Amino acid sequence: MSKNILLMCCDSCAPKLSEGIKKDLEAQGKRVSIFAPLAGCKEDACGDSFCRCEAVKLIANGKKDDLLSILVDRVEAAGKDADVVIITPIADDSALRDAYGLNIALAKNVNACVIPAVCAKDKTDEEVAAAADLAVKMFAQDGLAISVIASGCNENAAKCVEANGLSVVNPHAAKLSADKIVASSNILTPTKFMRSLRAKCRANKKTIVLPEGALDRILKAAAELRAMDLVNIILLGNEDEVRAKAAEIGVTLDASIRIVDPAKSPDIEDYANTLYELRKAKGMELDKARKLMTDKTFFGTMMVYKGVADGLVSGATTSTADTIRPALQFIKTKPGIKTVSGVFLMSLADRVYIYGDCAVIPNATTDQLRDVAIASAATAKAFGIDPKIAMLSYSTGTSGSGPDVDAVREATEKVREAAPDLAVEGPIQYDAAVVPSVAKTKLPESPVAGKANVFVFPTLNAGNIGYKAVQRSANAIAIGPLLQGLNKPVNDLSRGATVADIVNTVIVTAIQAQG
Ligand code: ACO
Repeated sequence: MSKNILLMCCDSCAPKLSEGIKKDLEAQGKRVSIFAPLAGCKEDACGDSFCRCEAVKLIANGKKDDLLSILVDRVEAAGKDADVVIITPIADDSALRDAYGLNIALAKNVNACVIPAVCAKDKTDEEVAAAADLAVKMFAQDGLAISVIASGCNENAAKCVEANGLSVVNPHAAKLSADKIVASSNILTPTKFMRSLRAKCRANKKTIVLPEGALDRILKAAAELRAMDLVNIILLGNEDEVRAKAAEIGVTLDASIRIVDPAKSPDIEDYANTLYELRKAKGMELDKARKLMTDKTFFGTMMVYKGVADGLVSGATTSTADTIRPALQFIKTKPGIKTVSGVFLMSLADRVYIYGDCAVIPNATTDQLRDVAIASAATAKAFGIDPKIAMLSYSTGTSGSGPDVDAVREATEKVREAAPDLAVEGPIQYDAAVVPSVAKTKLPESPVAGKANVFVFPTLNAGNIGYKAVQRSANAIAIGPLLQGLNKPVNDLSRGATVADIVNTVIVTAIQAQG
């Protein structure tokens, strides 16, 4: 994989600086390519660039993440035969107003070394050094650590900049050594996280059944998932109805999408018999099992039980209870696990958190809270996150008391007993869990406080309110709920789920199915 440099300089300096740095690096034996992310429609000099007008359209239509993903693909393509890609900056114009923000976002998504340029023209040496210092502070506010400054400055000004702990690269006077190319930040942006999930999904394609096959949002999501070649899809419903609906909303259904009508399925008798056998001790009768199998959620869940599908996603029109009850009844929990709970992967601007239980257990016992914590840690690991668990409460450490706090304390002890290797803290307040300075005051010795990434809420009320508050007020992407603890993945959609929510839930379901 290539190393990436993003130059932050004015338009007129970009060609000179990028060529100068390229020459430096080539002299050190590196293969270097220069990449301009956007080009105007008439500029055919930048064939690999993305069309600026199209970029503006994507941003105007609220699809900045799609644009970023396209640009990341192109940077990766530019780095295919290069050791270093020098990315020239995207410039502002009247249509593309936040070019700076786009440059920063691109830098974070391609782990670029950001090299800001300080123009020395008409400046004293001290002014150049001060400008470099300000640039560092500005980028630090965006989470980027700058160690190298490009400047057209003379030797004295360079010394002033270096006195501030920075290296200077001046294409006419100094060289950029290859080992100075280090990522300015290595944070997990939503685009990066979603790209990693999509790549994981594509690498081992699973089959997901969507019982609400004739629903607009489901059809659109199915078409998107197939267009990205992420999963195989089975839609449930009357085939004529499903196809008519797809045609009505202008969705083309990939030939690989299977449409299965439970009412006409030759498997219905076998499925009904299986349900009867599995549930007869609980009072199930064969006639009732036959009737239940005409219900798309029961039928789809049985497809998962039988291995015809690897996972199920439903609930865009049904309640959580109706969506997950079949799974609770016969998919059942994994060996050794008693509790099914639901978490959200909360993709924030620079990190991913896990919140649970936000979907299943109204008033968890301390044993259930322990199970939620342990299962959430396993989910974190499955999605590449090293879990640090905060057992949330309105009190931190020994500061408060009362039955609710005591319950969280007891649950925390139970997690420690059952899984001594897990990093867990509780009871702990949300601020002490995530803000290092608060953690330092309230729980200075805790290895979790200030660094938590898995959050166990004390009740379903708290968890469900908490995830929606962060999703709606902090612009987080909430992926889920992912049900954890079940033998096979079945996931529930919120009735307000958008097409993007459905796509994301199918992706995580497929990853759960990979095991
Ligand atoms: N873990 C494991 N098994 C469970 C669980 C659980 N958390 N809950 C129920 N079960 C099992 C029971 O043991 C039982 O098994 P059995 O029949 O073999 O003995 C079976 O599931 C049915 O149990 P019931 O007690 O009858 O449960 P019921 O079906 O009434 O309710 C449910 C279960 C649906 C999960 C219920 O607790 C519920 O409605 N929870 C809240 C869901 C909700 O509204 N969430 C918020 C919205 S989600 C969102 O906003 C995205």
